[in-house]
Amino acid sequence: MAEKRIGVGLIGCGDIAPTHAKALAEADGAELVACMDVVGASATSLGEEFGVPHTTKLDEILARPEVDLVTIATPAFTHDEITEAAARAGKHVLCEKPLAADLPDADSMIGDCEQAGVSLSTCFPLRYLGAAKWSKSLLEAGALGDVIEIRLRNMGEKKESYWTGGFSGRTQTDWRKSRAQSGGGIIITNLIHHIDLARAMTGLEVTRIFCEMGTFCTSVEVEDLGLASLRYENEAIGLVEGSSCLWGGSAEHDVSVLGTKGQVRFGLWSGQAEAYLTEEAEGIAAREWVTREFTDATHAEFYNDLAAALRAGRRPPVTGIDGRKALEIVLAIYRSADTGQPVHLPL
Ligand SMILES: NC(=O)c1ccc[n+]([C@@H]2O[C@H](COP(=O)([O-])OP(=O)(O)OC[C@H]3O[C@@H](n4cnc5c(N)ncnc54)[C@H](O)[C@@H]3O)[C@@H](O)[C@H]2O)c1
Repeated sequence: MAEKRIGVGLIGCGDIAPTHAKALAEADGAELVACMDVVGASATSLGEEFGVPHTTKLDEILARPEVDLVTIATPAFTHDEITEAAARAGKHVLCEKPLAADLPDADSMIGDCEQAGVSLSTCFPLRYLGAAKWSKSLLEAGALGDVIEIRLRNMGEKKESYWTGGFSGRTQTDWRKSRAQSGGGIIITNLIHHIDLARAMTGLEVTRIFCEMGTFCTSVEVEDLGLASLRYENEAIGLVEGSSCLWGGSAEHDVSVLGTKGQVRFGLWSGQAEAYLTEEAEGIAAREWVTREFTDATHAEFYNDLAAALRAGRRPPVTGIDGRKALEIVLAIYRSADTGQPVHLPL
């Protein structure tokens, strides 16, 4: 007999919500069973599109017995309060990145879930990119040698309308412009994914950061261009480079890892990755570029893996602590930019 699917209640029906609803329609381990948004029209449109009950009341969605897990897809400054209520109602929590806009909120979310005995996971589905999984397998097999450099980039162009409506314009809001409500700009919004990927692929933690950033082309409070240099625990060095106003975009890879015996690199949405090794390993000849192609279903795979962990009573594949670690690196980047000084981790 097929195992029962994990029932998911989606809280927040804005820009990213349809990505979750579509992934849950694809996933076989979890399914969307209800949705909620403080804006009635947003809850109604998503509920009707995906054929699930919808509400504007948090208590109502949390009272549904068929909701095993809530996905929180609201702005960062609301994550703590919603997590506390969900944990108290005995629901597992999957929280969109960033886990919170500051560390005290992140700590209180982790504490609330621990106390209630429910699981807390952070939404970092890019770990399920074929390119990321292949890169991780090369690193774990030692094919690249020791990691000496990690480059993480999110260089692109965001329309002015993005700051008030996201990519789809489903919800009109201005939290993305406010540092207090969003935590920051391109670094916390986008590069937090890359930062998590680097941790997941290499297992290395960051020990020191120096950053320069600014707001040059956009009428927002948060940064639209930032560049940080990083030092990792094994002495490797790294670069985090982000912009939402790189006119015409960038031709460079979003993620590249250089080791003492080779390199691997990929664009997040390219569906492929390239590697070059100085010694034959993992079926790859020495000193020849190889390219691997991938078909990705990152969110659906993420939900399946999370559902399997919840059913088995295991730790989620991406934890609340993982969300906190990535947030801490991002906040250290901002602290360095604010103070003009290098910042040591942990904060
Ligand atoms: N993982 C990703 O790739 C990805 C992509 C985009 C956004 N996000 C994250 O997802 C979250 C939401 O982003 P978005 O772009 O969808 O934002 P959005 O503003 O488009 O949508 C958020 C929705 O939440 C609703 N909302 C606000 N406060 C609420 C509350 N207290 N209770 C219930 N609903 C509430 C709003 O009405 C809105 O419909 C953010 O944390 C963002 O960083 C993640």
